[in-house]
Amino acid sequence: MHDNRTTLTQFLIEEQRHIAGATGDFTSLLNDIVTACKVISSMVNHGELMGVLGQAGSENVQGEDQKKLDVISNEVFLKTNEWAGHLAAMASEEMEAVYPIPSHYPKGKYLLTFDPLDGSSNIDVNVSVGTIFSILRCKGNCVNPTAEDFLQRGTEQVCAGYALYGPSTMMVITTGNGVNGFTLDQNIGEFILTHPRMTIPAATREFAVNASNMRFWEPPVRRYVEECLAGREGPRGEDFNMRWIASMVAEVHRILTRGGLFTYPYDAKMQARGLEGKLRLMYEANPMAFIVEQAGGAASTGRHRILDIQPSSLHQRVPVILGSKEEVERLAAYHAEHD
Ligand code: AHG
Ligand code: MN
Ligand code: MN
Ligand code: MN
Repeated sequence: MHDNRTTLTQFLIEEQRHIAGATGDFTSLLNDIVTACKVISSMVNHGELMGVLGQAGSENVQGEDQKKLDVISNEVFLKTNEWAGHLAAMASEEMEAVYPIPSHYPKGKYLLTFDPLDGSSNIDVNVSVGTIFSILRCKGNCVNPTAEDFLQRGTEQVCAGYALYGPSTMMVITTGNGVNGFTLDQNIGEFILTHPRMTIPAATREFAVNASNMRFWEPPVRRYVEECLAGREGPRGEDFNMRWIASMVAEVHRILTRGGLFTYPYDAKMQARGLEGKLRLMYEANPMAFIVEQAGGAASTGRHRILDIQPSSLHQRVPVILGSKEEVERLAAYHAEHD
């Protein structure tokens, strides 16, 4: 048990005291996001008891088969965040168009983007999944925002976070002042600060990649992984360990806990489909890049810093390499050498 427990609400209110001109609007918005994550957490925990597993029978704009929980979590996020007057609009992995705040609710100055259920291929097999979100300021038309208003660089994010529905439910958040982790105490229904100031070690001997795609990778990625696999006898002179959970939230959480490199690189399969990557810039890459950088790590496409990308469309996809700084820089250097 932790003594002197700080709840997430208390933490946010205390943080807000240090922000000049803060009105409490932002804290209140985050509280609603936290509530949405608690609802999703409860459904994930109950699984088949609530009848929420399995396919929804529909396809999303990404061309993925939606799970029931993809659809339900999306709905929970919309309904929990639309009414309070903090948001101008929302955008989600699961919706093709921008979601306008219904006209009978007041509108606010923030934009919310989210991946309501990350790692949803894992839901039916009872492996960790999560939720990822990002908050932007609405700078243009806040009465009727369009996709254009969302197309801001990752460096413009006001806040990013994720909920991890694992053996315990956790919430990890940054507002640009470091990264803090909270664990849900199911008995009292509150997130408690358990992982203050999370940092990623610069060096690591662990990497995460879906190696079944190896034959489609570009030479720099192939080189990096081959060198890791060669272990002590190879050019790195050390043995490496590998993990692949297929839930980005869980991989990023592992990296925040013990370091590592995560990549979903560009490959020939994507090229054939006219895609620039697998992971979505607005719902996955940007929020995670913000968190990882705030924890002392790095996040790159291999050719550019993720947070510097000027988004061109709401559902834009990008290659992602993130985690321990030295390894991300090494793999980026392999790209530069190759190009
Ligand atoms: P989502 O479930 O939100 O569609 O995201 C899945 C993502 C990411 O979480 C994970 O790293 C990757 O896709 C897994 O892809 P593979 O199934 O190709 O390994
Ligand atoms: Mn999906
Ligand atoms: Mn995802
Ligand atoms: Mn998802």
